[in-house]
Amino acid sequence: MAVVGLPDSTVRESKERVRSAIVNSGLEFPPRRITVNLAPADVKKEGGTFDLPVAVAILAALGLVPKKTLLDYLFVGELGLDGGVRPVRGVISAAFLARNKGFKGIVCPSQNGDEACLAGVEVYPVSSLREVFAFLRGEGIPRQTARETPAASQTHQPDLSEVCGQAMGKRGLEIAAAGCHNLLFIGPPGAGKSMLAKRLPSILPQLTHDEILECTTIYSAAGRLSKDGIIFTRPFRSPHHTITDAGLIGGGAIPVPGEVSLAHNGVLFLDELPEFRRSALEALRQPLEEALVTISRAGSTFTFPAGFQLIAALNPCPCGYLGHPSKECCCTPMQVAKYRSRISGPLLDRIDLHVWVDPVEAELVLSPKGSPSSTPVRERVASARSVQMRRGFINARIPDNTLEVSCSLDARTKTMLVAALKRYSLSMRGLTRVIKVARTIADLEACGEIQESHVAEALQFRPEMAGG
Ligand SMILES: Nc1ncnc2c1ncn2[C@@H]1O[C@H](COP(=O)(O)OP(=O)(O)O)[C@@H](O)[C@H]1O
Ligand SMILES: [Mg+2]
Ligand SMILES: [Zn+2]
Repeated sequence: MAVVGLPDSTVRESKERVRSAIVNSGLEFPPRRITVNLAPADVKKEGGTFDLPVAVAILAALGLVPKKTLLDYLFVGELGLDGGVRPVRGVISAAFLARNKGFKGIVCPSQNGDEACLAGVEVYPVSSLREVFAFLRGEGIPRQTARETPAASQTHQPDLSEVCGQAMGKRGLEIAAAGCHNLLFIGPPGAGKSMLAKRLPSILPQLTHDEILECTTIYSAAGRLSKDGIIFTRPFRSPHHTITDAGLIGGGAIPVPGEVSLAHNGVLFLDELPEFRRSALEALRQPLEEALVTISRAGSTFTFPAGFQLIAALNPCPCGYLGHPSKECCCTPMQVAKYRSRISGPLLDRIDLHVWVDPVEAELVLSPKGSPSSTPVRERVASARSVQMRRGFINARIPDNTLEVSCSLDARTKTMLVAALKRYSLSMRGLTRVIKVARTIADLEACGEIQESHVAEALQFRPEMAGG
């Protein structure tokens, strides 16, 4: 038996798995020469996905199953030597393909049944080649039905009430959540930057049905779906700063999605931002600007969605204590400048909210005075988001050319903004950032027009206010 059509070594080895699986399923495998041709011949094939289709094609060629049924369904799955069908990557994508190409349905590994159902095709989950054989001979196997979206998870997730004080940090999180703005926390070690960032998911709205489809497709392609089989909760990714460019952006001979795509529709948290490789930070520019990444490989380009919200945290200087209320910083101005320069201007430009975080007093942590929980904040965020949905854009992604229409200012607010523009010598980018943030603050108050107080608060989140 030979396999042709640019198979990788896993695909080439399929002949051993297929032969053994057929024999161990109690079917006959006559000693004949078999050539498996994977067309088109110039596209690389990888992984175990082709085992099951190859096996059923052989069974049909041997006349053991009717060819007609074969053509009505799409088959995916890896075979074990014992004839078992094992889970594979990308089944939801295969299921969408089956639907778009007009197949009756898909026959897939039972562990991948839930994700396949999301595509809205008939799904026949199988756990052995024996079952597939029975199915092809018309003996029928039960169809899988789609699962309900579970109600908000009951498991404990980090809540804002656990953070004492930090009014500015929490307000920053609320605005960021409401307008999907990127946010940077800056402050000394132990101030609670990481603690705050990890509580963003607790105030974000639940995933919509379309977002569940997108996230599940990405995780399936990356081989990252957990046993649960479907992504129901908003992604929160916090890769370590030692991550490679490929790990962050996506990579491999046939590329798989990286962290920026795993964070699609969710949060990408980069803690200790200056510690990341410079090249990795540079590579964030495209996803931040276009909400997608393209990866080029010999002859082809791969595009993955990468619409995430960036939350970053950093210390103000290498020792961490620059601007600390009681501790001395021991860095030279040169060291501070070098440290800051690791983060490029274009990256900082994409961050709408800059928040300085001071450590809270020890007494406050020891005797906390009941901080409000995430629930009311999440409700305000949800209504601010629905206002934006009606306008057509989430505030962080308002195109600059529609800014004037969606972010109208009254005369007094305009005067005030012009004064601020001069006083703080804001750049054009800085100005649009302030307006977008002010728009979100207005939406949190259900105000149609942006008012002076909204702009005044937005100005508190300029980079300069966070020592940036
Ligand atoms: N405002 C706060 N309320 C409660 N605990 C806090 C607060 N700030 C800091 N902590 C405690 O200090 C620890 C360190 O905070 P962390 O978020 O890791 O600081 P940073 O990321 O700024 O270095 C936290 O795990 C938490 O136990
Ligand atoms: Mg930290
Ligand atoms: Zn220092």
